[in-house]
Amino acid sequence: MKDRKSLPIGVFDSGLGGLTVAREIMRNLPLEKIVYFGDTARVPYGSKSAQTIRRYARQIVRFLKTQEIKAIVVACNTATALAMDAIREEAGEIPVIGVIEPGAKVACASTENGRIGVIATRATIGSHVYNDAIAAIRPEVSVIGKACPLFVPLVEEGWIHDKITDEIIMRYLDEVLEYKIDTLILGCTHYPLLRSEIRRLVGDSIRLVNPAYETAIELKGMLMDEGLENDRQREAGEPYPYRFFVSDEAERFAGFADSVLPVDVKTARIVPIEEY
Ligand code: DGL
Repeated sequence: MKDRKSLPIGVFDSGLGGLTVAREIMRNLPLEKIVYFGDTARVPYGSKSAQTIRRYARQIVRFLKTQEIKAIVVACNTATALAMDAIREEAGEIPVIGVIEPGAKVACASTENGRIGVIATRATIGSHVYNDAIAAIRPEVSVIGKACPLFVPLVEEGWIHDKITDEIIMRYLDEVLEYKIDTLILGCTHYPLLRSEIRRLVGDSIRLVNPAYETAIELKGMLMDEGLENDRQREAGEPYPYRFFVSDEAERFAGFADSVLPVDVKTARIVPIEEY
């Protein structure tokens, strides 16, 4: 049997956004191999029903299991919010972590005034999963959630440094800021890519929580606890141990991945995900 430590980590998202999580894993766990799947044919998940998202997530886990993975990271907030039980059931023995609990934990540790804002897709906000995760840690904390459905297309369009984007950010965040929060969770894969803009617009007094980073740190702890950390260094000249799969638009994905990740991404392979 192959040494489990050297197996890759399966990371998946509804599309491109989960690369923000893959990026944090690459930075914080540089010896780990990654198999990434982005469901680019069926994105966005944020406006779909729980039943559909659970079906999609099960297919993706079945595909990832064909790649001999040692752990699964659900990089998508919406899939974490609505399909975690289905994902765990499908994964069987393979340990799974999502992005919501790590973000909720750090936000709870960070807030001093007990007021946390969460921005995410409609599906994630509607699920109240962040509220529940926060209440389980600090029941006295109050949470204001706000769906920001236009952020995903703005990021995908590359309109990050744009006056229109600034206006849309403020239109969504005005209500959240009135609530006098001191901590804001960027509860969607794409939002960390707007982090500098949000920071400039909300000022320095609000702590921005990036669940992508917190998830990478949680993954590190989980691999250590399970004795699954890869300790083999990459040899000089050996290619980066990252493989990318998508359900559509492989070229566009590879171009975006290349711009977001600290490594060159030349190709992504298409997987007929409906067949899994
Ligand atoms: N990946 C999704 C999330 O983190 C955002 C994009 C989508 O709606 O599919 O919630």
